[in-house]
Amino acid sequence: MTEQKRNVLIIGSGGREHAISWKIKQSALLKNLYVAPGNSGTAQIAENLNINPSNYSQLKTTIINKNIDLLIVGPEVPLVEGIHDQLKADDDLRELKIIGPKKKGAMLEGSKLFAKQFMQKYNIPTAGFQHFDANSIKDAKQFMQKNTPPFVIKADGLAAGKGVFICQELQEACDILDEIIVNSKFGEAGNQVVIEEFLEGIELSVFILTDGVNYKILPAAKDYKRIGENDTGLNTGGMGAVSPVPFADKQFMAKIKNKIIEPTLEGLRIEKIAYSGFIFFGLIKVNDEPFVIEYNVRLGDPETQAIMPRIKSDFLDVLLKIDSPKEFEDHVLEISSKSASTIIITSGGYPEKYTNGYTVSGLEKIKNSHVFHAGLKIENDTYKTNGGRVLAITNCAKNLKESLTLNYKDVCNIKFEKLYFRKDIGQDIVK
Ligand code: AMP
Ligand code: GLY
Repeated sequence: MTEQKRNVLIIGSGGREHAISWKIKQSALLKNLYVAPGNSGTAQIAENLNINPSNYSQLKTTIINKNIDLLIVGPEVPLVEGIHDQLKADDDLRELKIIGPKKKGAMLEGSKLFAKQFMQKYNIPTAGFQHFDANSIKDAKQFMQKNTPPFVIKADGLAAGKGVFICQELQEACDILDEIIVNSKFGEAGNQVVIEEFLEGIELSVFILTDGVNYKILPAAKDYKRIGENDTGLNTGGMGAVSPVPFADKQFMAKIKNKIIEPTLEGLRIEKIAYSGFIFFGLIKVNDEPFVIEYNVRLGDPETQAIMPRIKSDFLDVLLKIDSPKEFEDHVLEISSKSASTIIITSGGYPEKYTNGYTVSGLEKIKNSHVFHAGLKIENDTYKTNGGRVLAITNCAKNLKESLTLNYKDVCNIKFEKLYFRKDIGQDIVK
């Protein structure tokens, strides 16, 4: 008997969603692939749907009309806003499989305070912390006076990656607290603030796909978050990634499983938080021990662009098993031993002000690498920049050194005004 082919809808418009689409497009189980809203890259391999995913009635109608079997939610905002809960409240969508948790589970990312209290309750290693609000801002300042910098200050809610501050000076830390709590720099997201211990170490991103009970570990990756070489300057969404992460060896991964992944799933079970989707553990290795810096309830961008080419199995196959516990448990996800690197090409000025609309050339010259589109659009048959992070170039080769060499060769073909990319992606770990 041939297996039934399925219709898939992916929500999002970044390089991450292009990479997920690219992987799913290769599945023997795929019938039609849709992306909402998608980008110029997804348009080449799927049908982009011009719908607003926060308009639930429009989304429901689309899901019914297009006979969607599986919905994959790329970014965090729709999950934190409750897209899964809204869709599942509709009897007509009973059969729809959704990759991405309901609102309660999405709080692991949507509220730093919720995540920290959850980790504390379930003994999951994380930096020590205190939390404060408008009524306790004085206590917050006194607390910092008694401690030594650096101070790590985090707005509780979603702040598009901009809500974390690492301050070397007490005065700077106090000013930031005022900005967040008194001047509402992040609106309601800053009603509560977490101040935590600074951890010194090397970061990595570990991802699982889980049905809330069993889980599959996806390839681990290292993200390069700062705009400048040697990890200097402002934080960005991510300037590049490599996978695998050599220092995440078997022993270290076993610690991550035993001390972090499994206690997290156990905590979710005890709290009766049903979960289907990805958990992205933002980790830091301190003296050979893993600590959680943050949870995310989705895949990372640009980590996804580096990990998708390393998944050998039919990815859609395992995603479709998310509602079938036994089949999900039995599924063996095959991972390639090759190394992948992703280099992000950005608009000059990013992560601050930048200009859109520059003509982009050279995409057709890239022969050895995958070209994932992000902030790019087509206007009069010409590619134009349309965002801070424009392209993600991914190369998969027998080792990291070769992957980086081939990748940078390809990256150099891309041309547009004020183009910028980091030239040191992977250099800290390449042999
Ligand atoms: P987050 O948005 O929580 O991932 O934080 C953004 C970045 O801030 C992280 O990737 C780390 O580089 C840094 N960071 C966050 N929390 C800490 C901490 N407790 N100690 C050291 N660095 C941190
Ligand atoms: N690359 C980090 C993130 O997606 O949050």
